[in-house]
Order: sequence, then structure tokens, then C-alpha cells
Amino acid sequence: MPGDKSISHRAAMMAALARGTSKIQNFSTSEDCGATIRCVKALGISIERTGTDVCVQSTGILSAPSAPLDCANSGTTMRLLAGVLAGQDFESLLTGDESLRSRPMQRIIEPLTMMGGSISAVDGHAPLTISGRPLNAIDYELLIASAQVKSSILLAGLNANGTTRVVEDQPTRDHTERMLRWFDVPVETGNGDRAGERFASVSGPVSFAARDVIIPGDISSAAYFIAAATLLEGSSLEIANLGLNPTRTLYLDQMRALGSSIDTDDLREECHEPRGTIRISGGGPSSRSLSSANSLTLHSALIPQLIDELPLLAVMGSQIDGGIEIRDAAELRVKESDRIAATVAGLRAMAAEVEGFDDGLRVNGPTRLRGAQIDPRGDHRIAMTFAIAGLLADGETEIKDPECVSVSFPEFFDLLESVVER
Ligand code: S3P
Repeated sequence: MPGDKSISHRAAMMAALARGTSKIQNFSTSEDCGATIRCVKALGISIERTGTDVCVQSTGILSAPSAPLDCANSGTTMRLLAGVLAGQDFESLLTGDESLRSRPMQRIIEPLTMMGGSISAVDGHAPLTISGRPLNAIDYELLIASAQVKSSILLAGLNANGTTRVVEDQPTRDHTERMLRWFDVPVETGNGDRAGERFASVSGPVSFAARDVIIPGDISSAAYFIAAATLLEGSSLEIANLGLNPTRTLYLDQMRALGSSIDTDDLREECHEPRGTIRISGGGPSSRSLSSANSLTLHSALIPQLIDELPLLAVMGSQIDGGIEIRDAAELRVKESDRIAATVAGLRAMAAEVEGFDDGLRVNGPTRLRGAQIDPRGDHRIAMTFAIAGLLADGETEIKDPECVSVSFPEFFDLLESVVER
């Protein structure tokens, strides 16, 4: 699998803030991470890319960009960079494509403003004008379970005076905390005061030295192949060097609960990120375990750990006894598209019985899907989800504007073609 997108963004940003030369291997091929590279370059950092190798040379000091920073479709680029830029001594402007300019930014503006930052938006949306200011540390409870918001605050905390602490009541991916540690920035993490709460803190201002980083394969990209191998009879699939960070692997547990046989091997940690090989064997709708699986309900604290895989799990749900219900997932409405609406519309077009709710959806199963024309609304994860649904469906499925997959996974269709036997 290509390198993990979330980890690649963080590696590039941390390398830009570090003193010296950082070599990053297996950097994500996604357009989203390409946007991060362009923004980092525009901030005066030398960053060279050769295939999936990226070399960053920095003094640890960013300089004022001469033009707006274009984050394209990437929410992670915009929200994390806003944290980096809030405490600089220059002004910058962050913008993006139409989808990104419609996504909520108040969630980062509020905590960064509490830290003394000055960020102006248009009705809570990008473009964001950031006038760099000296920052003070804050103690902040996340109102929305979001790794992007947590990371934005922690990155701002590197420049703030004192200890910046973020508390979350539902665990979100912890790549920022791990990447900070890898760059030898002291980070404290632990349980919060209330049950289920976690905290992470950094003390600023801090300067740190460059590190080399090896990025593991992206489990959210692998998810589509794991689903295909689980659903298509007689499959056998091996994926090596896959990121297996415990805040990202709940999808594997859910697939196992649905009867998928997934083994792991060669487990190890590099650059503080767990990784290993996974093997999936013997899938198929007629496999006894899959067809006798209980219906699945996903809600509350499970949601942030499955957030990018929920549309795909909805398709899985259409194939199992009892179907699937997803709740407490209103966040899906403010992703690259309204993923609840897009998933409901796509499944309905494929003849599944599906009901949408404000905060989720319910799909009945098992259903024989029918090939259909799908409009992924420019959203990479919707396009890939319905490509997998199309493998199961009777007849032809046509995905409109399939090139949107490049936002996270440009190789998707070629790789799918190369592993699926007809
Ligand atoms: C990400 C966090 C998640 C996820 C996104 C990547 C990250 O977003 O959906 O694809 O790299 O931190 P939220 O923080 O908005 O949940």
C-alpha cells in the first residue's frame, strides 16, 4: 500500500519545523499530501520529492509565503497548518477547493483564538487569514472528536509559552503524538479525569532536530482491498508493511466480527508507528461465518476510530444477515462530501434497502446489489467504496469522475484491476 496519508502530512510538517535534513521514505502518493508539500515549500522550506522519497531541509524557521497557501481538497493540510501558522511572526492565507471551503473551520478557530491566535474566516469557512501572534498555552477539551483539531492545537502548542493540553473523551488517531515523540519533542499522554478520557500535552516553546521517517502503508486505503478479499469467494490477499496503529485498526476487528479471516504477522514498531503484514483468506458471501454474522451496530466511541471506513462498512452491511446500523456519525456530513447522503444515494441506486438519519444510516442485508451509475460527488472514499460494491453487484457499475480517488489513492483502480481475477 502507498504510505499512510495522515502520517505523511505530519512527517512533512514536523520535518519543516525541525533543524536539519529529514529523509522521509514511502511518503503518501495522495494529492492531499502533495498539497502539504507545496504549502511547506511556499513557507520557504527546501523539500524535494523523488518518487516516494521526500527530503526536507530546514533551519526550523518558516518564512512568510508570497501567495495564498492552497490546501486543495485536504482538511488535514488546512487544519494542521493553521496550528503551525498561528504562532509565526507573519501573516498567511489558507485556502482550498470548493469542498474544503465549505467545511467547518470554527472547530480550530476557537481553540487557536483562545491561545491568542488571530484567524479570520468567512462565516467559519476558509479562506482563513492567519496573522501570526505570540501564543499562550491552553487546557482544552475537544468538543468534537477530531484528530485534526487535536493536532492543530498540539502543533500550535510547540510555539506557545507553557503546557498546552488537549483532552478528548473519545479516542482519535494519535499519529501527531507519536510523530512529536519521534522528533524527540516531549509529549505527555494518559487517561483523563473521567472514564474513557485521554489527554495529550506539549510544553513550548520547543525547538528540535531533524529525523528520518519511514511511513507505513495506509490502512484506510487497504480497507477497500480487505473488504474485497472478504466478500469475494476464494480470495487470498497479503499486504506487507501496513500501518497497524491501534487507533486505526478497529476496522480489522469489525471485519473479523463479520467473519473475515485476517491474520497478522511480522508485527513491529518503526518511528513509533506499529506496522506489520496482514493476510486475508477464504472470503465470500457463501462462507458460513460471513452469512451467519450478526447484524452490526456502530456508534459512540467507535465512530472516530472508523470514521473514514464507515461508507465502506455500510456496503459490507448490505451483504450480511441483519445489515448494519451506524449512529453518532453526523461528522460524516462534513467530510469531503456529505458521506451519509452519498452512501444512502449510492446504495439505494444499487437496490439496497437503506434509510438515512441525521447522524448515520441503516442498511438491511443480505441484499443482491444491482450495478448502477454512481456519482461520488468528487469524494475519493465514496468512489472507492462503490467500486468495491460494483465488484459484488449484478451488471455494470459506472463511477462518475473516478479520478477523484487520487485525493488519497491514485493507484487505486490499477491495483484493483491487478488483484481481482474475473
Ligand atoms: C485525519 C483525521 C480524520 C480523518 C481524516 C484524516 C487526520 O478527520 O477523517 O481523513 O489525519 O488527522 P477528523 O479529525 O476531522 O475526524
